[in-house]
Amino acid sequence: MSTYCYVYTSVSKHKWSDDELKNLLNKSRHKNASYNISGMLHYLDPFFIQILEGEEQLVNELFNTIKQDPRHFKVSLIYKKPIEERSFADWSMGFNVVNKEKIADIKGFSDFLENPPAQPSPIHHEIVRLLTMFKNETLF
Ligand SMILES: Cc1cc2nc3c(=O)[nH]c(=O)nc-3n(C[C@H](O)[C@H](O)[C@H](O)COP(=O)(O)O)c2cc1C
Repeated sequence: MSTYCYVYTSVSKHKWSDDELKNLLNKSRHKNASYNISGMLHYLDPFFIQILEGEEQLVNELFNTIKQDPRHFKVSLIYKKPIEERSFADWSMGFNVVNKEKIADIKGFSDFLENPPAQPSPIHHEIVRLLTMFKNETLF
């Protein structure tokens, strides 16, 4: 049994309201916690980038479910590697809207890029690099 990190990007079919995002996060947190999947979802309208960490088969199953979700398209897996330790162990699903003022009070809101953890995991730098490219829209 090995732990994997998946990172994918996708394009939303519509602009998500705060309520829709909250709803998605609540459901995702519940389900991810039950599968011991952790991670982070970033939304920069219209783009998503999500990091999923957990047991390989469970992450793969969840990714396949997410991939078929009709609310987004162009789902591209850009990173898939076994990991020794998790970068988001505390988050069943952290969340960040790059335009963050509006929903900064949502539980799980993260300043991951601005405030790196005290003890970054080995792949922290790789994830920061991908997130920075995402933020600057150079991933697409
Ligand atoms: C961008 C995006 C990210 C998502 N992330 C998750 C997630 O981390 N966990 C989750 O359970 N569902 C997530 N979903 C929702 C799933 O696609 C799916 O609707 C959900 O898992 C419920 O599926 P089920 O009713 O078949 O169990 C996400 C959907 C989108 C559009």
